[in-house]
Amino acid sequence: MKTIIEPFRIRSVEPLRHTTPEQREQFLAEAGYNLFLIEAKNILIDLLTDSGTGAMSTEQWAAMMRGDESYAGSQSFFRLKASVQELTGFRHVIPTHQGRAAERILFHVMCRPGQTVPNNTHFDTTRANIEQAGARAVDLPCPEAADTQARHPFKGDMDVAALERLIEAEGRERIPLIMLTVTNNSGGGQPVSLANIAAVKQVAASHGIPFYLDACRFAENAWFIQLREPGYKAWSPKQIAQKMFSFADGCTFSAKKDAFANIGGFLCTQDDRLADQEKELLILTEGFPTYGGLAGRDLEAIAVGLHEVLDPDYLQYRIASTEYLGRHISEQGVPIVQPPGGHAIYIDAGLMLPHIPRQQFPAQALAVALYRHAGIRSVEIGSVMFGDHARHELLRLAIPRRVYTQSHIDYVVEAILEVYARRRLIRGFEIVSEPVFLRHFAARFRPLQ
Ligand code: F0G
Repeated sequence: MKTIIEPFRIRSVEPLRHTTPEQREQFLAEAGYNLFLIEAKNILIDLLTDSGTGAMSTEQWAAMMRGDESYAGSQSFFRLKASVQELTGFRHVIPTHQGRAAERILFHVMCRPGQTVPNNTHFDTTRANIEQAGARAVDLPCPEAADTQARHPFKGDMDVAALERLIEAEGRERIPLIMLTVTNNSGGGQPVSLANIAAVKQVAASHGIPFYLDACRFAENAWFIQLREPGYKAWSPKQIAQKMFSFADGCTFSAKKDAFANIGGFLCTQDDRLADQEKELLILTEGFPTYGGLAGRDLEAIAVGLHEVLDPDYLQYRIASTEYLGRHISEQGVPIVQPPGGHAIYIDAGLMLPHIPRQQFPAQALAVALYRHAGIRSVEIGSVMFGDHARHELLRLAIPRRVYTQSHIDYVVEAILEVYARRRLIRGFEIVSEPVFLRHFAARFRPLQ
């Protein structure tokens, strides 16, 4: 059969609510044209993020009933630990309430002021936590990533030559760790090849620098390796994922992505001394090391999710569904980051709206236009989010896991094509108020004429 179906059936549903164009205009004005400030009940299709928004399975809900809520030594922790260790091989598994908590603990233990942490592309919380620790976050995407239209199979790769130049220039002692984000979220949800993971590991090891994965979307990355990297056709996603982790000295992980959990994360390391320091910090702000800010039932959901996400039927559907959205809009001329990513499609708003200069936030303008037209919420990944570090003005349509069906995606395609047909009428924005931190979430805008 050629038709790829959702590999699940649905028996608990959540109604969606339509709004009128007049209502949406009012919600936009009240929210200062920042979609983070619109109440979710006024969103028809929510593609703000794939993080914590997935649907859990019957097996996950069943496992949650087994949650052991003991303060110390919870059985749920040991089930999670076994699940993580089977996949990653890491000695220490430290649960946290989500990915950024793992990042904060890792960087506070490993980084000193004046140091530099390279990554293919840092996610915004990763960058902020490194900077908060007094260090510098440097992005080293591969050269192919600069052209959003280039169809390279592994545009998430790190530029290994640039990494070597950075180590040469800074000196090994100023680089406390090297990270790779799989898939590269801020760089268009693009995968990283095993060859690149191995090459980065080799450079790191030759200088004695620890190498970590930001592993949020490890399973989607593994699927792309099976599809696109020579030599892995016969490997299962799990075997590929295990191979990816085998190169790393540790990882940070947000279980809100490729573990189908609504909350949770963890930090892993092979280093006993670091693990002790990390657990001390964990106790200060997250909780005891066998729960790390989560309920026992959350640990159970993650343990099961890590297993389910590697199901080839699920991954085939997941990647095909994202690709479907990307193909149907790009065939009609909408410029997207090519090839389509794993968890999201990114429209290059800079290319689509050349009449809006970047100081007037073209991707924000497109996000507003799409909500206004069809009640769809997306997110700006450009100058609002990253300020001067932004390389492109992207609009991300992130697809929650196992939540929307094909007709929802068809509706999104139709809406984007209608907005695209009227793109010349879209106008930019200026920021009228912004907090010092977190401009993305709280800035308010004014439409320009
Ligand atoms: N690293 C990456 C690559 C991420 O995409 C995220 C979150 C995090 C770390 C932080 O994890 O949210 O559990 O604290 N990304 C979400 C997104 C928020 O919308 O892409 P968290």
